[in-house]
Order: sequence, then C-alpha cells, then structure tokens
Amino acid sequence: MSAEHEIARLRELLNQHNYRYYVLDDPQLPDVEYDRLWRRLLELEQQYPELVRDDSPTQRVGAEPVGQLHPVQHEVPMLSLENVFDHDGLCGFDRRVRQRLGIEGELEYICEPKLDGVAVSLLYRQGVLERGATRGDGANGEDITHNVRTIPTIPLHLLGTSLPDLLEVRGEVYLPWVGFESLNEQARALQEKVFVNPRNAAAGSLRQLDAGVTAQRPLQMCCYSVGRVLGATLPERHSEVLDYLNHWGFRINAETEVVHGVDGCASYYEHLAARRDTLGYDIDGIVYKVDSLALQDALGFTSRAPRWAVAKKFPAQEQLTRLLEVEFQVGRSGAITPVARLEPVFVGGVTVSNASLHNRDEVNRLGVRTGDTVVVRRAGDVIPQVVSVVSDQRRGDSGEIRFPESCPVCDSPVQQDAAVLRCTGGLVCAAQLKESIKHFASRKAMDIDGLGDKRVAQLMELGLIGSVADLYRLMAETLAGLEGMGEKSAHNLVDAIAHSRDTSLPRFLYALGIPQVGPATAQGLARHFGSWRALQAASLEELQAVEDVGPVVAAHVRCFLDSPDAMQVVKKLRDAGVNWPSAKTRETADEPLQGATWVVTGSLDNFSREQAKAALEGLGARVVSSVSSKTSAVLAGREAGSKLKKARQLGIPVMDEQALLELLSAQGGG
Ligand code: IVH
Repeated sequence: MSAEHEIARLRELLNQHNYRYYVLDDPQLPDVEYDRLWRRLLELEQQYPELVRDDSPTQRVGAEPVGQLHPVQHEVPMLSLENVFDHDGLCGFDRRVRQRLGIEGELEYICEPKLDGVAVSLLYRQGVLERGATRGDGANGEDITHNVRTIPTIPLHLLGTSLPDLLEVRGEVYLPWVGFESLNEQARALQEKVFVNPRNAAAGSLRQLDAGVTAQRPLQMCCYSVGRVLGATLPERHSEVLDYLNHWGFRINAETEVVHGVDGCASYYEHLAARRDTLGYDIDGIVYKVDSLALQDALGFTSRAPRWAVAKKFPAQEQLTRLLEVEFQVGRSGAITPVARLEPVFVGGVTVSNASLHNRDEVNRLGVRTGDTVVVRRAGDVIPQVVSVVSDQRRGDSGEIRFPESCPVCDSPVQQDAAVLRCTGGLVCAAQLKESIKHFASRKAMDIDGLGDKRVAQLMELGLIGSVADLYRLMAETLAGLEGMGEKSAHNLVDAIAHSRDTSLPRFLYALGIPQVGPATAQGLARHFGSWRALQAASLEELQAVEDVGPVVAAHVRCFLDSPDAMQVVKKLRDAGVNWPSAKTRETADEPLQGATWVVTGSLDNFSREQAKAALEGLGARVVSSVSSKTSAVLAGREAGSKLKKARQLGIPVMDEQALLELLSAQGGG
C-alpha cells in the first residue's frame, strides 16, 4: 500500500473510532489499538510532511498560540430564546404559536435540555471544519477555530459521503461535572485560581490563545441547530435534522425527545427536572421547539428570538445571601474544615444554610469575611459552595475569619498539612472518634443501620462506646430506655450490629477508615492479598503492586498496619466475632463473574441496592454506577430508568433479580 493510501485509511479509521468513542459513547477498538493506529499515522506524516492535512486526527492542536482572537461575522445571526418561568408561561407560548398557525389541535414539540455552556457556531466547507466562532453579540463573535479543533466531539471532517457544500452547525460547548471538578482540583493543588462554575470554565477554556491549554480541558459539544446550509436538502423536521447531524459526526443530546402538545412538554419537564442531579452536566432549563420545519418557517422570528421556540428555565442555582459566621468542623481524618453558616436561601431547589469553605487557601482566595454578601451555588447533588463575594456590598461590621490554634473539639495542637489544618488528637479527639464510628457503620462499610450522627454522639457521651469494637458489646437492655430509643429500636440496633459480624474482607478494610482507602482500593487490596494475614505481611513494594495503589496509599496502609493501637482495635473486633470468608474458601470459590462489570438499577424485591452490589462483588464482578459499552450486564429492577434504556440502546444484556438469585444459589450462597 502506498503511504498516501495508508495515511488516508488510517485517518478514516481513526475518525470513525473517534466518532464511536466520543459521539456515540460506544467504542469498538481497544485503546491500545487506537494508540497504535494513531502513532502509525503520526510516523507516516512525519516521514511525508507534504501529506499532512488540516483535518488529520493528529492535527487537533496547532503549533503556535494565536496572537489574539479575531472578530467573525456570523453567516446567519445567532439569536437568543424567549424565556418562560412556569407552566402558565409555557401554555401562553403554545397558545400564541397555535393561534398564529391557525391550528386547534396539539402540535409536536421537540424537547431539548438547555445546556448551560457557551454557544458555538461551526462552519464546514466541503465537509472540512473551516471555522469555529463564539456567539458574541449574535451578529459578530470571535474566531476560536484553533480551540474548537481540540474538542474530540467536534469532527474535523464530516462523516459519510453526500455532504453539503457548506454547513453551519450550532451547539453548546460545556464542561461535564467530573471535568470541572478535576480541573478545580488541579487548580487548587497548584494554588491557582479555581473556576466559579462549569460555564465559566468552558468560556475561559474556549477563549484561550494557546490551543494547547484548551486541549487539556475535557470540553464537550452537543449540537442543537443548523445555521446556513448549501448543497443539501434538509429533512422536514428538526428531530430529523438532529439525526442528520448525528450521522455527520456530531454529538446530539441523549435526552432529546419529541412530545405531543403542551402536556407532553410539561411531563418532559417534570421528568428531566427530577433527574437534573444525575445528568452529569449543568442545564438551566428546557428548550421547546416546534418540530416541523415548515411550521417554523411560517412562524418566523421576532428581532431577537425565534417565534417557534421557548426556554423554560429551572430555578436558579446561584443566589445571594449573607455569611453569618464560620464554624470549624473536625472530620474523620482530623481535617478541620471551615463551614459557613448562611442566612437561609432557596437555591437549586433546596434551602441552604451551610456551605463548606474547604480550607485556609479557599478562604484567602475568596477574600471572604463574616457579614459579607456572598454568591452561593448549589448544582446537582453537589454540596453548596460559596463561589464569590460581592465586595462592594461589604459592610462596616464585617469580620476576619480566624482559624483555630488548637482543635475546637479536643483542644489538641493543630498542624498545617499543605492546605489542610489538622487536629493531632487522633482517636482521643471526640470528633474524629465519632466520625470513624459513623464511617465504620456506614453502608459501604459494615452496613449497620441506625447509627447516625446523633445516636453515635449519644452513645459516646454516655460512655457506652469508646471505640468501634465496643459496638459489639452493646446490649439491648442497656440501650432500651435511652433517650429516643424504645425496646424495639434497641433490639433492631443490636441485631443490626450482630448481623454485621459476618462481613467481607473488602468491607472490613474499608470500614477501618485507613486514609485514602476507599471501597475500590479496599476491594483491590482484598482481591490481591486474599487474606488479612497476607495483607499484614505485605511490604510497601508489594502493596504498590495492587491496582490503583501508589506510594502514598501504600504508605498509609503500611502505617496503619504498623500502628499498635490500630492493631489492638482490629484484634478486639476479631475477638468480638467479626469475620469474613477465609482466603482458602475465596481461592477455591468460583467467581463466575470475575472480570465482568455490572451496573445495578431500579428497585429490587429481595435486595437493597447495596446488598445486590455486595452479592455481585462476591461473585467476582466489579460494580460501577454508569452504563457504557464496557458494561458486561445490567441488573435491572422495577422502575429502572435511563440506565436500562442506555443498556438496551447499547445492546448490553439485561438481567433481572431472578437471574441474580440463580447465580447465588448456584454458588451455594445467598
Ligand atoms: S436553540 C434560534 N437549543 O440558550 C435558537 N439553544 O438563550 C437559539 N442553548 O444562545 C438556540 N441549549 O447558547 C437552543 N438545546 C438548545 C440549547 C440552547 C442551550 C443556549 C444557547 C443560546 C441560549 C439562548
């Protein structure tokens, strides 16, 4: 094969794979194979520089930063949307549309999440990406071609054969939550400025002069309309246009749906609003569009927005409030966290009266003082954050935030450990002890129901527990009659504690609360060493042979195993009857699901979600929370929703509870 041929073939393969991976979430090549093809293409292109083309997958980041962002005039102005804030507003919109069209019956609307990112226009000539631009004022934007080229969900070259001569595509570039979190985590580690919210982070990323910086930001783009099109006939409906775009290589939002009439719009809204916390990216409302393009044409535009579309906004996720005072909380590891007590404010659908201020660096970065007016943000199920201070509203009585010089709970000396202020009291500190007992009892650990914050504090104050091992000595007679505890709940608690004695090594390891050992690491350690005894004998090097265990985690584990106090607690727990299947049974037991990745969704009759997860793990499976093409199977119960839908779309086997019961009985377990 000639070099030219091979290069063309490699580009085609890589583009296809890129599309499957980023746009369809359905990769078909293993990553190593993709890397191999990529390297081969790079090698050939280095050998034959004259064959390098702009739309080659190797050319996503240009060599030189641009000097400035140049103005761009949009081919067709990028309009904005009319907003409504409640159901009446939506009904008004539907009525006006039908009146204008003279239609009595229900219209078909396409419902799309209103992504909270940055509107971007992409121009393709003969199928090749020529220009990317921000919306700007709608008529003129800025040229960000060098940056959009780095976004993997944006094709450099359209897929397929019958391509339009000219195509302008519009959509939203946004930063999913995980990307946002990791970006800010990095920024905090480097003591750099953190981003206030994912939209600001996306906007900042797109306006970089150096595309190398943008390439490091995990941006995505979902397309929602076309601007100018030449040399192609578009279908009759907006929903079909989106399908076209998808076939040409663009990502379309998976939640998009066509509904009948205003009632359909309303139930879509309810459905999506309820799932807003789980989407993984910010949306600030729903966009409803008349699906028929002929009707869209008949309706036309006002000067600033189309008459055929409307956005129904969700309640705001940011609000102003006052910071009343700052308290310091001591966590399980002794970290002392400043917590802002706020004037209660309704934000992101809940009333918020506390927000974490993280640490000293964050307080300094915000420049916040007590009494300040602050912007509070609550997005998804993320804990509320103070994102900025409205400094021109500062009053004369504002006060400096002073960090404690000794532990606010046990008065032990504190230690500054990088950004974190830490109490040195260990389990002498009532706060650390309380948090470790709560952790020990938590669902993913020993799974003891009924040991919440108040109960643990009460038992500690009465001197009934001074370590986790004491839990196993509690008696129903002692508990019954304690404040807020009847005979029945006393028995239930003692039963739950007794029940937890039969556990698994991963749960036990996690329950011990070794710094940086989460459920996955605990599972890895247990799987690798098989028994407590083998783990105890492991050297630092041997510990690092476990997947995801690096020098830091290994050191924490070793330090824990070398601590006489910790080993004393472990011994007491084992003496109290805490046990797990021994290494021998583990080695001889079949793990029929070894190597498989499962997802559990919906409600089951015989198991809680946690129990089902534990059962699957017991059979050797890894259980994760989201469905991807790498998922081996989905265990679906009643009212399973989007995960089940996604599994079906991807053709992943779906199992019911009966199948799990059968697997378990085949193991002779239950
Ligand atoms: S349609 C002429 N669809 O909302 C139609 N816009 O307030 C204009 N947006 O600037 C846009 N998700 O940045 C449309 N599914 C969606 C959208 C969406 C987010 C943004 C877009 C636009 C703004 C208008």
